[in-house]
Amino acid sequence: MTNNKIPIRIAGLGYSVPKTVVTNDDLTKLYETSDEWIYTRTGIKERRIVSGNEDAIDLGYKAAQNAMKKSGLKPEDIDCVIAASSAPPQLYPALACHIQARLGIPDFVPSFDLTAACTGLIYSLQVARGLIGAGLYKNILIVASDNNSRLLDWTDRGTSILFGDGAGAMVVEPAQDGIDDVLALDIRADGVIGQYIYMNMPGKNCPLVEQAEIEQNPKIHMAGRDVYKFVVSTLPQYVDKCIEDAGKIPEDIDYLIPHQANQRIIEALQQRLNYSDDKVISNIKYYGNTSAASIPIALVEGVEQGKIKLGCTAILCGFGAGMTWGTAVVRLREGIC
Ligand code: COA
Repeated sequence: MTNNKIPIRIAGLGYSVPKTVVTNDDLTKLYETSDEWIYTRTGIKERRIVSGNEDAIDLGYKAAQNAMKKSGLKPEDIDCVIAASSAPPQLYPALACHIQARLGIPDFVPSFDLTAACTGLIYSLQVARGLIGAGLYKNILIVASDNNSRLLDWTDRGTSILFGDGAGAMVVEPAQDGIDDVLALDIRADGVIGQYIYMNMPGKNCPLVEQAEIEQNPKIHMAGRDVYKFVVSTLPQYVDKCIEDAGKIPEDIDYLIPHQANQRIIEALQQRLNYSDDKVISNIKYYGNTSAASIPIALVEGVEQGKIKLGCTAILCGFGAGMTWGTAVVRLREGIC
């Protein structure tokens, strides 16, 4: 879907991360590993994780407040809330309903979660684009927030080294000037390889029937090497195609803002596009993989640090459990973050 009946404007972006920093050296207290092993294989030095009662709702709320402020919209202007969350503190009420209540978004606006793991922001943008394009809603708040640190097995050194917590938010609205900020967007899934990353739900059958074998302390399971191989062999062609769908060539795009899962995956994409380091946004070193939040965190922090000059175009690309993946060429206007 490249052409929308109603063009959309990305009106505001924000993010929020927990204060608590856990370094690679800290992880050596949990299992046998080293800063050198983790950094050379992933590009990660440290990650932020929630502490005490802080959770993905708190992070999402702060990110949403920041994005709303930049958009100039007030809670009463929002008419739909989508939360991209695969690691929420509660399965229901949806994280989006918590955000709606905390922000004081009135008039009983629809609020729901969308589970596409680390591709959640791009999936949500596609859904928002469809809803606005169909004329159903106008101003949509997207909140991407995940609490992976609570779902990890902190004895599994192959998986728990990778993830951190964080939230990002985006406000989208119909573009009054008729210029669509989404030049092209493509979302994909392959459930056949869903076992590469999964998390079971606990539960028991009714005591009157035979019991099922269900994991009672669920945690994130990941076949890291399979994920790595799949992503580097699949994602680059979709990046190429999305740029082509936008009517552009790689040189026309100012920045590559990829999901922050592994520095080596980011470098594979960089090489494919033949981009210099200043065109590729990476902050995985300080945050690890924050799931659906990683793209908006990298984007907004990139602007704050002067790595990204707004008034530009960028290609966003993400992948995650499902397996899901997605790409989007977007216009980033001045003043959105
Ligand atoms: N510290 C030290 N050694 C570790 C370790 C750690 N944290 N984690 C694993 N190892 C060991 C393993 O036990 C194994 O030892 P063995 O050969 O004696 O059995 C060895 O290192 C290699 O393990 P392997 O899992 O094959 O490593 P890898 O080179 O594939 O790297 C990842 C593991 C997770 C870093 C890598 O596969 C990866 O980043 N994959 C992508 C995952 C991803 O992006 N997921 C998110 C998707 S949204």
